[in-house]
Amino acid sequence: MTTRHTASVGIFDSGLGGLAIYRAIRERLPAESTHYFADTAHCPYGGRAVENIIARACAITDYLLSKGAKAIVVACNTATVHAIATLRERYDVPFVGVEPGIKPASAASKTRTALLLATPRTLKSYSVERLHERHASDLTIIRQPCHGLVEQVEQGALDAPRTLELLAEFLQPLQTQQADVIILGCTHYIFVQPQIARLAGPNVSIIEPAQAVATQLAKRLNDAGLQAPSGAAPTAAFSTSASDSARVSDVASRLLGQAITMEPAAV
Ligand code: DGL
Repeated sequence: MTTRHTASVGIFDSGLGGLAIYRAIRERLPAESTHYFADTAHCPYGGRAVENIIARACAITDYLLSKGAKAIVVACNTATVHAIATLRERYDVPFVGVEPGIKPASAASKTRTALLLATPRTLKSYSVERLHERHASDLTIIRQPCHGLVEQVEQGALDAPRTLELLAEFLQPLQTQQADVIILGCTHYIFVQPQIARLAGPNVSIIEPAQAVATQLAKRLNDAGLQAPSGAAPTAAFSTSASDSARVSDVASRLLGQAITMEPAAV
């Protein structure tokens, strides 16, 4: 029987990037059931109007709540920085989001220069300004929009020549401006972290948010008394707005290293 405690945690992203957050949640909270939604039909979010991102976030939240979600993880920086405030106002469930790790980057940087890789829409957000002012005002942040990288990850083309070419271009400021920290400000980029690490070399730290989001979710569920009892038999559902859900399932399975099926959902 599904009770409030054993209900699922809804997780969504514009596409497959949020699966990196899903993976960390499964590891950190193995008793929790999850329902992951990939908004593939509207991916990428990074060039969309803010009103459109908010509308998608609300439609997906309605869908996940209709499937019984007890809490929602916005596994997308772009949607978090532009839509999570509206979601929290409109819905009475806990929301956990993901924002660029500017605070940990400041703690890690010796050169006082960090390279923030993110979507154009995230880079233009008030949240990034606020994080910078509050936690790292003495840190120079090079804001690098990564046009095209989300699309490469969506195809599962992690080692394709085009992906490596794009990464080399986006990491150029490491040479010219002595940044010693890279902030992965988009969940899709977590899947190319090994490629980024290889190109950046051993003296550059990489800040990725997946574990921190899972820890924050654990805390929110605990505070709200919503955590699944240990020993609960967890389920994992996946759905996508894509019409070619078989192709999306195939890429998602490769990214996760386990076979999963994304059910088509008209959201
Ligand atoms: N994974 C996303 C993020 O963290 C969204 C990327 C996009 O759709 O442009 O920002």
